[in-house]
Amino acid sequence: MNDAVRRAAEILRAGGLVAFPTETVYGLGADASNADAVARLYKVKGRPAEHPVIVHFATAEAAFAWASEVPGAAHVLAKRFWPGPLTLILKCSEKAKGFITGGQPSVGLRVPSHPVAQQLLREFGGGIAAPSANRFGGVSPTTASHVRADLGADVDMVLEGGASEVGIESTIVDLTGPAPVVLRPGAVTREQIEATLQAAVRDKGTGDGAPRHSGGLERHYAPRTPARLVATHALDAEIARLKDAVAVLAFSRPDERVDYWLRMPRDPAAYAQRLYAALRELDSAGCSQILVEAPPETAEWAAVRDRLVRACA
Ligand code: TXA
Ligand code: MG
Repeated sequence: MNDAVRRAAEILRAGGLVAFPTETVYGLGADASNADAVARLYKVKGRPAEHPVIVHFATAEAAFAWASEVPGAAHVLAKRFWPGPLTLILKCSEKAKGFITGGQPSVGLRVPSHPVAQQLLREFGGGIAAPSANRFGGVSPTTASHVRADLGADVDMVLEGGASEVGIESTIVDLTGPAPVVLRPGAVTREQIEATLQAAVRDKGTGDGAPRHSGGLERHYAPRTPARLVATHALDAEIARLKDAVAVLAFSRPDERVDYWLRMPRDPAAYAQRLYAALRELDSAGCSQILVEAPPETAEWAAVRDRLVRACA
């Protein structure tokens, strides 16, 4: 156990805020059973109080103690995907207080696999409430320096853990209803969940109301520079038409007419891993617009497409 992790756990016990690496994105952590610490977390994050926050644990056993009911599907998914980039929404036990759940009767639980997150969770012992360590609505951080750039002195400590391997937030599966629903797509795909449960799993269509979750907002994960999705076949014409400085995120080779061009991998996992760093880079390029080449309309691109659509809303 290294000193930084021990210090981080002490800060959490004292009600402080610690940003820490996970395999998805960096989280802004607080003791999930400390109302004051969570209140400060929401304030720093700039997040409305009625938005629930995910609680992180070292093991499935510890996580499930925060649920009043653990359906068979939860055990099956936990066994297959935890530790890893999956969040389960379950009915909450009395351990999950209203200040965590946004007053809803359910709670989001996750067991991350990143070794530093695991060390911190084991050393701390309890649940760590952690949204992504960025200001509300912005691009999630995938490195410690992203966190420092976003939150600066508002966080008591930032634990180093390299660049997040997955790069986009966890898949969220709601198990509180009669059938499982994917609330937010991620590295664990709907198809993998269906195969694991051997049951049909629905995707939450946008705009069908409850439950509340900020990743479900139309504009989210967004850079400050206006961004637009453009179909591959329309990209050339769009570039020719634009007069202002433009930054482009695309699969193809750079175009000379464009001021700032980032080329992305054609593999969805590799694309996801680089996505947020790329959006940050394009955002700071000083262009008046960002154009994003739309990824393929296939299942394996669902999570990346979801983030791009919201970044461009
Ligand atoms: O990968 C991740 O999930 C990262 C890392 C840090 O673990 N965390 C993350 O947290 O993305 P956050 O707060 O930025 O997004 C979590 C999403 C939000 O949209 C939140 O509203 C939703 O999960 N959520 C949490 N509890 C919920 C609940 N009981 N019902 C519905 N949605 C919930
Ligand atoms: Mg977030």
